[in-house]
Amino acid sequence: MSEENELSQIFEILGGDFGHAGSVSTKVKEILKEVGIDPSIIRRAAIVAYEAEMNVVMYARKALFALTLTPGQIHFKIEDEGPGIPDIELAMQEGFSTATEEMREMGFGAGMGLPNIRKNADRFLISSLVGRGTMLSVYFFLNQESRG
Ligand SMILES: Nc1ncnc2c1ncn2[C@@H]1O[C@H](COP(=O)(O)OP(=O)(O)OP(=O)(O)O)[C@@H](O)[C@H]1O
Ligand SMILES: [Mg+2]
Repeated sequence: MSEENELSQIFEILGGDFGHAGSVSTKVKEILKEVGIDPSIIRRAAIVAYEAEMNVVMYARKALFALTLTPGQIHFKIEDEGPGIPDIELAMQEGFSTATEEMREMGFGAGMGLPNIRKNADRFLISSLVGRGTMLSVYFFLNQESRG
């Protein structure tokens, strides 16, 4: 695989910025459409990007969202500066949420974001350091016909 076949883009996400919430995942989705990724994979990737972005907006200070596209896969790396997750196993459970009343009123806080990320990814890694931040690494595998 040559480097010309690689597309990399980095986006910044700001914690607490509900006004722009969803804008990074929208851009990521547009890029995937432009390069002709299979719609069913775009659908899964868009869910993952949105849920990861919202978690940064809700819980972290800021993050970098790195998108890397190669002929074989889509890779997302979302690395935030924030409080971290003390118990990842608990956070991964459906329904677990520390969302505030305010966030719940906006429709968030079902505790389904991380479980949905795992469900929609082909490969999913999460690591976190309390007091430092959280890192998600998510892969979607492409077959030959998935790139136009
Ligand atoms: N980037 C993060 N930094 C710190 N804590 C996080 C982060 N992402 C998730 N969490 C913690 O994990 C919990 C579960 O996250 P998850 O996305 O599954 O649910 P939620 O965000 O609470 O609700 P929903 O995603 O359904 O709106 C969160 O409530 C929060 O406590
Ligand atoms: Mg969430």
